[in-house]
Amino acid sequence: MTNQPSSVRVSLGKRSYDILIQEDLIANVAQYLAPLKLSRQVGIISNARLHRLYGTVLVRHLRKHGYEPHVIILPDGEQAKTLRWASKILDELVAQRFERRSVLLALGGGVIGDITGFVASMYLRGIPFIQIATSLVAQVDSSVGGKTGVNHARGKNLIGAFYQPALVLIDTAVLLTLPKREWLAGLAEVIKYGVIADAKFFAYLEQQTHDILTMQPEAVRYLVKRCCEIKASVVRKDERESGLRQILNYGHTVGHALEALGKYRKWIHGEAVAMGMVLEAEISHALGYCSAEIVERQQHLVQRVGLPTGLPSVTTFSQLWSAMLHDKKVVCGAIHCVLPSQIGKVTVQPLERRVVKQWFQKRGRQQAT
Ligand code: NAD
Ligand code: GLY
Repeated sequence: MTNQPSSVRVSLGKRSYDILIQEDLIANVAQYLAPLKLSRQVGIISNARLHRLYGTVLVRHLRKHGYEPHVIILPDGEQAKTLRWASKILDELVAQRFERRSVLLALGGGVIGDITGFVASMYLRGIPFIQIATSLVAQVDSSVGGKTGVNHARGKNLIGAFYQPALVLIDTAVLLTLPKREWLAGLAEVIKYGVIADAKFFAYLEQQTHDILTMQPEAVRYLVKRCCEIKASVVRKDERESGLRQILNYGHTVGHALEALGKYRKWIHGEAVAMGMVLEAEISHALGYCSAEIVERQQHLVQRVGLPTGLPSVTTFSQLWSAMLHDKKVVCGAIHCVLPSQIGKVTVQPLERRVVKQWFQKRGRQQAT
């Protein structure tokens, strides 16, 4: 292990920040807080499991370095990402008299990161927050880029704000306690980066699948860093998703539809994205944007890491299309979908119902034979 963490800069003018990546970073958080010149008052937002695993050590460490940590525990999982829980955190910050230079630490996966960032954006019109990303999804995606928010009863992530963290800390050693299903779900997002932006990285994932699946530290460090570099470069060019940032939604048009059709219980997000990527590649091929080889390489890699690739047989075309129409990325009733043209290159195209139906029917005939 090197002494200095590797770092990736997210360059956004006054809102720029570093992503620091290293094993056992949580044991040294005070060292990275110091240069930010914040107050000693620190709010740690986490859940019971992560607090037991990492929060207690973090609290002891911060106290030892003169900080005054105050812990706020949320329920585990998506159920915590609500306005009700955001409001409870705000109540606690008011009760504890948090000030403008107080800081919130989000110790957890995407759920904790998203709600903590959202609360930080609102309290006193914005206080600093730091992402301590513990899941693979958080380490390669959600902790970077400043999309924060909570769910509404009618849909995921409907309420939120763009609000960048002051720092992202990624301790890759904590991935060892991540449930396997969550680790694999994160790998779907990792594969996504290869398809949308980096053919060499995709080839690396194909060649090093064994090292990745056995979580070799060097492979994990490399893949987390490469994904952060790609995400940072996209966010730097298009912070508020007015264009380029849409490419990060590859696999999500069909993926979100499948997630919704499974009532958010059957598949976790990354599993749905894995299926979504393979199916969107098939649609891209059907429309003539990419060769069959591009579809096959993705399908093969997704399958090898142990993620689902097919279209669930219970899904009808009307169900799929109508779920796709509910996606946030629909503009004036038209579905705009990210489609691969090569490995490492994508295009965003409107999808016509007629064409997608043809693909769906052809797929059904092929499956039946
Ligand atoms: P999550 O936060 O629910 O974490 C998944 C599970 O793993 C939870 O049970 C959590 O307690 C557990 N966990 C996390 N780290 C662990 C560790 N090191 N050891 C043991 N258990 C651990 O889910 P997620 O997959 O991290 O994130 C999904 C959420 O992120 C969704 O709400 C999604 O909308 C959001 N998201 C946001 C963005 C963004 O840009 N803001 C991007 C992608 C996803
Ligand atoms: N996860 C997609 C984005 O950050 O834009």
